[in-house]
Amino acid sequence: MSRLVVISNRVAPVDEGQTAAGGLAVAVLAALKESGGIWFGWNGEIVQTPPTKPDTQKIGSLTYATMPMTRRDYIEYYIGFANSTLWPLFHYRLDLMHYDRRNFTGYMRVNGRFARALSPMLRKSDLIWVHDYHLIPLADELRRLGCEQRMGFFLHTPLPALEILLALPRHEDLMRALCAYDLVGFHTVNDLSAFFDYIILEAGGEVLPDGVVRAFGRTFRAGVFPVGLDAAEVAELASQHDNSPEQKRLATTLQERYLILGVDRLDYSKGLVARFRAFAKLLAADPRMHKKVTLMQIAPPSRGDVRGYAEIRRELETTAGHINGQYADFDWVPIRYLNKSFDRSELTCFYRMSRVGLVTPLRDGMNLVAKEFVASQGEQDPGVLVLSRFAGAAHEMTEALIVNPHDEDSVADALSRAILMPLGERQERWRALMQKLTQHNVHVWRAEYLEALQRPVPVD
Ligand code: F6P
Repeated sequence: MSRLVVISNRVAPVDEGQTAAGGLAVAVLAALKESGGIWFGWNGEIVQTPPTKPDTQKIGSLTYATMPMTRRDYIEYYIGFANSTLWPLFHYRLDLMHYDRRNFTGYMRVNGRFARALSPMLRKSDLIWVHDYHLIPLADELRRLGCEQRMGFFLHTPLPALEILLALPRHEDLMRALCAYDLVGFHTVNDLSAFFDYIILEAGGEVLPDGVVRAFGRTFRAGVFPVGLDAAEVAELASQHDNSPEQKRLATTLQERYLILGVDRLDYSKGLVARFRAFAKLLAADPRMHKKVTLMQIAPPSRGDVRGYAEIRRELETTAGHINGQYADFDWVPIRYLNKSFDRSELTCFYRMSRVGLVTPLRDGMNLVAKEFVASQGEQDPGVLVLSRFAGAAHEMTEALIVNPHDEDSVADALSRAILMPLGERQERWRALMQKLTQHNVHVWRAEYLEALQRPVPVD
């Protein structure tokens, strides 16, 4: 069996139980735990002179190989091209996209450096699986160094529609590099269609049956592989919290009010301001909801050095303060806004206690919070998922209450419907969702992706 080598910018904390840095880390860790292998990436540190070799640490069958980067790399590659150009572009925020030639060069430089540090560790039979927008050029850099292994790429964000993608200066360099992989995977059919549009309409390439693509002188495959989670593990974690100290503490402070829960990195793509305003509309429209509901929004700060993030933080604080000022009473605060992270186990406890999981991003690749919320529910009294149609998860999770996050009135209506939904309907929706999560779990995701990566591509 081939050894699996996974590369992502962010590598999950080595200590189990710590907060993982986003959905990617959760999924990759679950996938790697099953097969073992190498996980290569940035260790989160900034140094003056980076080493040429990664630092390795073996834990069970998994080897972590991580490297620091220089401040210049951090600014040009991570803050710059990855998170000030690609992230807003991929989330349809051209108004926030900032392009700078120096950042693009820095992005390519770091990809080259990662490739040079990784290549001596590779064996001929390794399967290489690269994750996310930070590392699109990695395969191309590895191929320049003579690596001939099968290499796959998976994009955890959306790929925007062609007209948006074309706004990126150097889009051709980036897309040409993407075509150096043997398999390019996306969460949804929309992302795949955007890719095919680029291949056919912009690159003059071809899309053949079975996802085979010919472009930029290469033949490879592209496909849809919606990421899942280990639903059984999450359900087990959540059930351990029945009567736990956390559960009791939260229950005491709720005083039998319905809990509406949001859990998101503090990011403008998550639609948090509109979400708060939709909640305020619920309170304005239905005075019966006053003192009956509490919105708890967990939003750990993220990418504080990137322009736009400080602003969204300020805007949210103002909005939450305004709503609480308008509706709070001496014994009730409508919004609990928490700028901190919790470990996964505590989160499953909070999900399980919620009547509503409110997941309303303006754009999202998949959104594993939606899936974790459902997997954490108990069959006796399951909560209801209110889900944005612009999260990749909405393609599969059709039994959620699907909303347009730009329409705050309709989000308020969905909240009201979720809170008042009879038990029978909640159970029916939950069972259907849970069945999907169990079937399309993270192990199936990994197996299907790796099977496609190893499938030969027809040559003519
Ligand atoms: O899922 C998207 C993603 O950008 C991941 O690549 C990343 O690990 C996560 O969000 C958290 O973001 P950051 O690494 O910038 O803190």
